[in-house]
Amino acid sequence: MGSRGVPDAARALGGGDAAGSRRAPALGARREPRHRHGRPRRVAARVAAVARRCRRARHLLAPHRGARAPHPLAQPRTVAHQGAARAPVGGRRARRYTARVIHAFDLAFPGRPARTHVRAGRGALVALGAAVRATTGARRVALVTDARVDALWGDVARRVLARAGVACVTLRVPRGEAAKRPAHLAALWEALAAADLGRRDAVVALGGGAVGDLAGLAAATWLRGVPWIAAPTTLLAQADAALGGKTAVDLGAGKNLAGAFHQPAAVLADPEALVTLPDRALRAGLAEVVKKGMAVDAALFRWLERHAAALAARRADALEGAVARALRAKARVVRADEREREGGPRTALNFGHTLGHALEAALGYRRLLHGEAVALGMRAAAALSERAAGLPARDRARLEALLDVFALPRRMPPLPLAALVAAMARDKKRGARGVRWVLTPRIGHASVPRPVDGRLVRAALLEAGARATRVRT
Ligand SMILES: NC(=O)c1ccc[n+]([C@@H]2O[C@H](COP(=O)([O-])OP(=O)(O)OC[C@H]3O[C@@H](n4cnc5c(N)ncnc54)[C@H](O)[C@@H]3O)[C@@H](O)[C@H]2O)c1
Ligand SMILES: [Zn+2]
Repeated sequence: MGSRGVPDAARALGGGDAAGSRRAPALGARREPRHRHGRPRRVAARVAAVARRCRRARHLLAPHRGARAPHPLAQPRTVAHQGAARAPVGGRRARRYTARVIHAFDLAFPGRPARTHVRAGRGALVALGAAVRATTGARRVALVTDARVDALWGDVARRVLARAGVACVTLRVPRGEAAKRPAHLAALWEALAAADLGRRDAVVALGGGAVGDLAGLAAATWLRGVPWIAAPTTLLAQADAALGGKTAVDLGAGKNLAGAFHQPAAVLADPEALVTLPDRALRAGLAEVVKKGMAVDAALFRWLERHAAALAARRADALEGAVARALRAKARVVRADEREREGGPRTALNFGHTLGHALEAALGYRRLLHGEAVALGMRAAAALSERAAGLPARDRARLEALLDVFALPRRMPPLPLAALVAAMARDKKRGARGVRWVLTPRIGHASVPRPVDGRLVRAALLEAGARATRVRT
C-alpha cells in the first residue's frame, strides 16, 4: 500500500495555513497564508507550490478565452471516455477546456424522468453556462455562493454563464456550516422573490457542501421546486455532497434535520477550483473519499492507497481521479437507493457519521470540519467493526494508515462521554431500537445500520479521546 512517502506527505499537510484561503491569481491582491506556528520556510514553500498550481489554473480566469469552445454537452463522444484528449473542434484554447474533461456520465433514476449530468475534470466549471442551458433550458439563474468563493471563482462562473446567454443574479450566503440555518433559507427565499426567479429559471450552487445543501433546499422548495445545478468548489462537495440530491439545513436539535431530496440537473466538479482550497479543507474532503472506499468500493480504497502520497501532495491528476472515482461510486449507490430507504444500500454512506454528526453537534458546528468529524467517526466505527463485525485487524490498520497519510485527526477533543452519547441519541439515524452504527466487516463492504452494545461503544469513544463521565443507560 502507499505507505512509502507517508511521513513526507503527512509533513507536507501538517499545521500552518488552515485558516488561510488561497486567492486565484488573476483576481488581484495575493494574500499570504496565515500560519500560527511561525514556520516561514515551510509556508514559503507552500506559497510557491500554490503559485505554481495557480499558474496552471490561469486559463480559467483569463478574459475571453474559450469563446469558441463548443457546446460541451453537445459533444458527448469527446467527454464520455477516460483520459485521452479527443475534442475535435474549437481551436487550441477550446481544446484545452473540453479535451481535459475526462469523466462524464449521466445518473438516471429508474421510473423517473430526473437525471443528473455529472462531469468531473478540468474545464467542468467553464462548461457551467452550457450545462445550465442543456440540462435545464434556463436563461436566468440565481447564483448562490459565499463571499470567499464569490471573490475567488464568482467572476469565472458569471463570465461563462454570460457567454452561454444565461443572465445571473448573485446571492451571497454566510460561509461554512453557518449558512445551513433555517433563517438563511428564509432569507434566500426572500431574495429569490426579489429577483423574481420563475419556474423556468434555475439555481446554481457555487461553493462547498454547505452552500450546496442550502441552495439545493432553496431550489427544492422555491415555487415547489425549480431545477438546480451544483458547481462544487471544495473536494468534499465535489467528491460527495454535490451528488445524490440530499439537501438540508441544521436545527438546534441536530444536523440536517430539515431537508428534501432534490436531484441536481448537473454536477460540475472542476479540480482547478481546488487550487485555492486550504489544506485543511482538502484533507477533510479526502475523508469522505476514504469513506466511500471503506464502505462501498474496495477498488477505490486500493486506488487511494496507491495514490495516497500524490493526493496528500495535492497533485491535480490524483485529485481529479479521486473525485471521478468517488462520484462514480456514489452514483452507483444513489441509483440503487435514491431515498436511502431503511437498511438500503445508501445507508452504507453513513459510515463514520453516527459519531461524526454527534461530534459536530456537540461542538456547536465549530472546531471540526465535517470531514474531520467523519474521519474520527470512521476510526471509532472501525474499532467497533473489529470487535463486533469481524473486520480483520489488518484492514482496520489500513484504514487508520490512510487517514494518517491525509493527516486527519486521530483523537477527538476531550468531550464528556455523556454529551456524545446524548448527541448520538438525538441524531436522525437513531432508530426505534436506539443509536445505530454502520459497520464494515471488510474493506469495501458495510452492514445494515444496527445497534451496538453500549459497553463497546463507550470503550471505543474513550479510546478515541472522550472524557470519562457517567452515562445513563
Ligand atoms: N448533501 C450531501 O449529500 C452531503 C454529503 C456530505 C456533506 N454534506 C455537507 O457538506 C458540508 C461540508 O461541506 P464542505 O466541506 O465543502 O465545507 P463548507 O461548505 O462548510 O465550507 C467550505 C469553506 O471553504 C470555502 N471554500 C469553498 N471553496 C473554496 C475554494 N475553492 N477555495 C477556497 N475556499 C473555498 C468556503 O468559503 C467555506 O468557508 C456539511 O454541511 C455537510 O453536512 C452534504
Ligand atoms: Zn458526510
